[in-house]
Amino acid sequence: MNHFPAAVLLLFLLSFSGLVAGSRDITGDFLRLPSEASRFFRRAGGGRAVDDSADANVGTRWAVLLAGSNGYWNYRHQADVCHAYQLLRKGGLKDENIIVFMYDDIAFNEENPRPGVIINSPHGDDVYKGVPKDYTGEDVTVENFFAVILGNKTALKGGSGKVVDSGPDDHIFIFYSDHGGPGILGMPVGRNLYANDLIEVLKKKHASGTYKSLVFYLEACESGSIFEGLLPENLNIYATTASNAEESSWGTYCPGDYSSPPPEYETCLGDLYSVAWMEDSDVHNLRTETLHQQYELVKERTYSLNSAYGSHVMQYGDIRLSKDNLFVYLGTNPENDNFTFVEENSLRPPSKAINQRDADIVHFWAKFRKAPEGSLRKAAAQKEVLEAMSHRMHIDNSVKLVGKLLFGIEKGPEVLNAVRSAGLPLVDDWDCLKTSVRTFETHCGSLSDYGMKHMRSFANICNAGIGKEQMAEATAQACVSFPSGRWSSLHKGFSA
Ligand SMILES: *[C@@H]1O[C@H](CO)[C@@H](O)[C@H](O)[C@H]1NC(C)=O
Ligand SMILES: *[C@@H]1O[C@H](CO)[C@@H](O)[C@H](O)[C@H]1NC(C)=O
Repeated sequence: MNHFPAAVLLLFLLSFSGLVAGSRDITGDFLRLPSEASRFFRRAGGGRAVDDSADANVGTRWAVLLAGSNGYWNYRHQADVCHAYQLLRKGGLKDENIIVFMYDDIAFNEENPRPGVIINSPHGDDVYKGVPKDYTGEDVTVENFFAVILGNKTALKGGSGKVVDSGPDDHIFIFYSDHGGPGILGMPVGRNLYANDLIEVLKKKHASGTYKSLVFYLEACESGSIFEGLLPENLNIYATTASNAEESSWGTYCPGDYSSPPPEYETCLGDLYSVAWMEDSDVHNLRTETLHQQYELVKERTYSLNSAYGSHVMQYGDIRLSKDNLFVYLGTNPENDNFTFVEENSLRPPSKAINQRDADIVHFWAKFRKAPEGSLRKAAAQKEVLEAMSHRMHIDNSVKLVGKLLFGIEKGPEVLNAVRSAGLPLVDDWDCLKTSVRTFETHCGSLSDYGMKHMRSFANICNAGIGKEQMAEATAQACVSFPSGRWSSLHKGFSA
């Protein structure tokens, strides 16, 4: 350290004599430009940098934001992700460090009453403006998501090429919002994300030594199942999820809610857990609020004792990280410097919410009811409601029947609905799970967003030791006719 000041002095002398245009390496010491040198002097003089201690500890903050759905009736997932982007930008993150995945079919959708605008709450501002279009449309895939997390540019297909190019001192924040089911998360294109694959990617990222700590916020139905019994405690990863491993998560600001969207909107504007953490982060000085405090608050807002909706927010991984301030991951908006976090100034929960899995029906229904009598729009909306309902019945009945064919009339439902005790992963053989899903979809059609709820049944079929041939026989018997149109597995490909 002793020869550092000498080197800096040398730099000043050289720059006065006009010889230095940039930093150079002389005798192994890194020479600093005058602007950098002044920072260096302050640091050396005071023993500590003048900027606050949290800043000094923070490497670069990275964020990956992903909305896993498309379709106007799924407005809320992309709205959540756009809102998260605005929050991080206000917190001081740079565009080059925020990677956004969204299908991008909402802002200019013909159903959107405010073209080019997306809102995430009834009186909210536009959250779409300025959102980088890193991975949109056909590029929103599980393969690209994994490549981005791992910083592997050669594995990318399409998109902006932005990846998490992080170093050992950096902090990473990942936020995902979409439909899910036991063990899986949805993607608008290609196959779904399977929990075991995600955990492998996180382990790989950890092994590469390219982050200090990572926080994962996850909104999806049964999102607890993505980490339950799967996420090790020793990866410096802290995760919270919208729901436990066996329940739905919830949309909010839906038509008919107490806090309902402006009347021209026929869709939910946000998701309960997502809106809870973001509306909390929006108004506080995040230097004074810890991950744990936010977890408690979001948990309270997302779960409502007195009504029939709500889910249990869960935490997984290295819980000790939750004593970190949110600032370490999200930065903080300087405008909130005077809004220190206290439990009492948190926002009150809205009075109602809509089960994620019913949000599409709510949309088609709102559209149906509002359309003029006898209009084409009314007829189209009616057709959509009926088709969605009948596909649901077809999937539910087919899964039930497969269970009965495999395990008998009495035992079938029992096996399919069994829930493993807490701390155990959903399934032991993930390849079997993927094969079962593919087999089912071959004979019975696409599971679709709604059908993700049956993933536990497929997991239990595997846990009971049912092989590929038995499964193929049962599904062929259960589904004699192959569904057509958008519900066919031929339309979108297999989900596994
Ligand atoms: C990056 O992805 C490519 C293509 O999938 C793969 O061959 C390569 O091994 C990956 N690199 C690393 C460092 O994981
Ligand atoms: C915070 O409060 C101080 C003291 O009252 C004031 O000078 C400052 O402008 C406030 N900052 C913000 C961002 O409101």
